[in-house]
Amino acid sequence: MDQNELKKLVGRKAVTFIQDNTVVGLGTGSTVKFMVDALGERVKNEHLHIVGVPTSNRTAEQAKALGIEVKSVDEVDHIDLTIDGADEISADYQGIKGGGAAHLFEKIVATNSDKVMWIVDESKMVKTLGKFPLPLEVIPYGSQQVLKKLAAKGLHPEFRLDENGNHVLTDSKNYVIDLHLGQIEHPHKLADYLIKQVGIVEQGLFLDMVNTIIVGRQNGPEVIQARP
Ligand code: 5RP
Repeated sequence: MDQNELKKLVGRKAVTFIQDNTVVGLGTGSTVKFMVDALGERVKNEHLHIVGVPTSNRTAEQAKALGIEVKSVDEVDHIDLTIDGADEISADYQGIKGGGAAHLFEKIVATNSDKVMWIVDESKMVKTLGKFPLPLEVIPYGSQQVLKKLAAKGLHPEFRLDENGNHVLTDSKNYVIDLHLGQIEHPHKLADYLIKQVGIVEQGLFLDMVNTIIVGRQNGPEVIQARP
């Protein structure tokens, strides 16, 4: 199976965990796209009553088009389960997210959910985080100063630009800085430092957050219970 087939496999597996009459956080990315497709099928075929809380405009559009009821995080009183992708997951089940520039909304939805599930193909499972550049969402005003400060600290920051050289914008119209770190030895320490920097709205380390991980492997999906 190629990477896309593995993503589809875990997307389809994930929706078997969704129960009727629940509120489900819907992540962002190509793996989640397969999951939302599969959820749309279940809603249609089984007449499920699901409220989806999307983490991006992209996911909201897709869910609505499939007939899934969509509410914002501020319109629901709780979220039962959030299903999202990830860019890297370490051996102790910490994660990097934000490759799709959606980690701020993803973290808001995840931290307001009873349970969090990540769905990934096996290439995302690593020993130590950091090969994937760590995304930061930053306010445009003063962002050059933030970049300078991060560079001086040896964190190898780069603005994320599109193919025309323009800043990639998040759904909140903020910029993204990626930190090219290679390896993150102390993720909690780094997360504490980053979130204290004025101008950084959110950083892409998702620590102690995931309950269940579904990994797409060549011999089928592996379900890992990371935390109770
Ligand atoms: C978006 C994310 C995505 O979940 C992450 O980038 C994984 O994406 P994909 O499923 O396309 O590999 O964090 O901000």
